Amino acid sequence: MVNSTKEIISPSYTSIDWKKIREDFPILKREVNNQPLVYLDNAATSQKPQLVINAIAHYYSYYNANVHRGVHTLSQEGTNAFEASRNTIKEFINASKTEEVIFTKGTTNSINLLAYSWGRKFVKEGDEIMISAMEHHSNIVPWQILCEEKKALLKVIPINEKGELIWEEFLRLLSDKTKLISVVHISNALGTINPVKAIIEEAHRRNIWVHIDGAQAAPHLQIDVQELDCDFYSFSGHKMCGPTGTGIFYGKEKWLEEMPPFEGGGEMIKTVSFEKTTYNDLPFKFEAGTPHIEGAIVLAEAIRYLQSIGLSNISTRENELVHQTTTRLKEMDGIRFIGTAIHKSSVVSFLVNNIHPYDMGMILDKMGIAVRTGHHCTQPLMDFYRIPGTVRASFSFYNNENDIDRLMEGVKKSIQMLS
Ligand code: ALA
Repeated sequence: MVNSTKEIISPSYTSIDWKKIREDFPILKREVNNQPLVYLDNAATSQKPQLVINAIAHYYSYYNANVHRGVHTLSQEGTNAFEASRNTIKEFINASKTEEVIFTKGTTNSINLLAYSWGRKFVKEGDEIMISAMEHHSNIVPWQILCEEKKALLKVIPINEKGELIWEEFLRLLSDKTKLISVVHISNALGTINPVKAIIEEAHRRNIWVHIDGAQAAPHLQIDVQELDCDFYSFSGHKMCGPTGTGIFYGKEKWLEEMPPFEGGGEMIKTVSFEKTTYNDLPFKFEAGTPHIEGAIVLAEAIRYLQSIGLSNISTRENELVHQTTTRLKEMDGIRFIGTAIHKSSVVSFLVNNIHPYDMGMILDKMGIAVRTGHHCTQPLMDFYRIPGTVRASFSFYNNENDIDRLMEGVKKSIQMLS
């Protein structure tokens, strides 16, 4: 199987001053429970660099106005910045047109857009939608709702103990009824990087649409939607140093043109009368109401920041941190890793002996260490492993070796207290 992204060690990698980059994030200087914060919950949301925080203040201090609506200067400036941001995102994911880039509230909202708009138009009784056993609830529930409504069937690609998709099972589950495959690019609970390019190739050979949930991939890998050839791709801004409540839904223009609007309201219309409404052109057809203007503009700022470091440098740094953490945790008695795929990124999920993840999470928090504990919105995946949840340390490029030392101290202390 082929991975969709290659790790290229850039010659610039060794010259990056990671210590200095860490200083861009003011929150990392704060204390939690009288201890310097160690933030290892980046898969839930990333922290924001000062320039992103400044860009939010600048927007509201200088040119806040509604977009696409006014002839006045502020509205024009806001509209220009908003559309410039769309263009930055188009370039970032290498979409072929800005019309293919839809602003949403986040990945969940993007997937719901797809299920409600594409699903209503294209899915009929007896059709099949395929997801995988490692999906986040946001890539399960919208499809369950659709399948129930349409009397369609939801099929699930099984995984092995390492947390990898079972390729032969995937091929076996494909049928002439399969309409769409919607799979996660990087699992939020396991860190598995799925072979999405190979999945897309198999699907397209059979005229099946493919949607990729890129919530965990966009902050860590260079995404190229044309190279992947996916039909749809979703991701969130807040996991990649941007504001909360921002996200992107990418779709190939030919499909977006055929899809009906998801929500009705201002902005998505061309003309409205009580007899008939005509819809706006792409991308506005899918952007009803006043958008998250500041969020969209500042997301472009966050993307420029990530690009200034380089996505390949970011993923190399994170892989290093994950490798060190895994190696050191392995030395502890009773450790069980959940998610040991060969292709893995940014997440270390684990359990120790019979210690409940919540209990360990509480002790770590008392020591100023933020990890996520629980089922990570992947309850069926936790059922597969027959566990209530995991302790999950998820990394970003601004984490460092000291964070790993502190995590090790925290885990050791938890074992002493709870075993
Ligand atoms: N899906 C996010 C996580 O994994 C919230 O934490």
